[in-house]
Amino acid sequence: MFTDRAALTSRAYADHRALGARLSIYRYQVNGVDLPGLALEAMRGVRGAVLDAGCGLGTYVERLRQDRPDLDVLPLDLSAGMAPAVVADIQRLPLGDSSVQAALAMHMLYHVPDIAAAAAELRRVVVEGGVVLASTNGSDDKQEIGALWATAVEDLTGSPAQERDPDSRFTLDDGDLLSGAFSSVDVTVFERETLVPEVEPVVAFIESMRGLGEQDLPAGLAWDVFLDRVRELVQTEIERCGVFRIGNQVGMFVCR
Ligand SMILES: C[S@@+](CC[C@H](N)C(=O)[O-])C[C@H]1O[C@@H](n2cnc3c(N)ncnc32)[C@H](O)[C@@H]1O
Repeated sequence: MFTDRAALTSRAYADHRALGARLSIYRYQVNGVDLPGLALEAMRGVRGAVLDAGCGLGTYVERLRQDRPDLDVLPLDLSAGMAPAVVADIQRLPLGDSSVQAALAMHMLYHVPDIAAAAAELRRVVVEGGVVLASTNGSDDKQEIGALWATAVEDLTGSPAQERDPDSRFTLDDGDLLSGAFSSVDVTVFERETLVPEVEPVVAFIESMRGLGEQDLPAGLAWDVFLDRVRELVQTEIERCGVFRIGNQVGMFVCR
């Protein structure tokens, strides 16, 4: 489901809206993690061409171009709606062997059907001695969102629901999926929390998951009804605690 090419390109990442709404929740993160800054640090010795595979809204592309104008950054994405320079699948990169000095695969490998194949492609296109960076979430990341989803479904259907965990195909515990392609894989993990004082940003976050999530709702449960129940639950939690708390676990693999 989370790897469905048509759903990714025509719904979840058809344009900037859903991803933009999803990322905007992090403005409430306490002591937020500057992942683009970490990527810059890990690429200090890099000169020349850098691939950003699964570039999305171009967060890393913009920061690299701003802080390292000497680098030649190539934004690539499966979805044309993300406006990359190259539309392609990370599992089959249209680049020559050893054609870039470094590559990024940031918060995207959990969408890729064959993660080991993607790692091998990254290894192939990056020069010997170059670096590949891959960020993702930990297995404990945003558990409150999964619980909120399940509670809303249970309340409306009267049946137990599974917590959704979209990122679980590739978490910070899954370095072994990369280690077949690289001689060293190091990971840095950060624990943070996001404290949201208002209802609508949380509702907007759930709404941003609609492209891949709507079809996971039980048959007969309409998305808008589900979203209204989410809104009520978040409202109750904020009245009780002052904020809706989301635990975050985020990090980055550095592969050489
Ligand atoms: C969660 S977004 C991350 C965007 C960006 N890297 C970031 O960290 O802000 C995931 C991106 O990966 C892209 N994507 C998904 N599967 C892909 C694939 N097989 N090859 C290339 N890009 C892919 C999606 O279209 C989307 O833009």
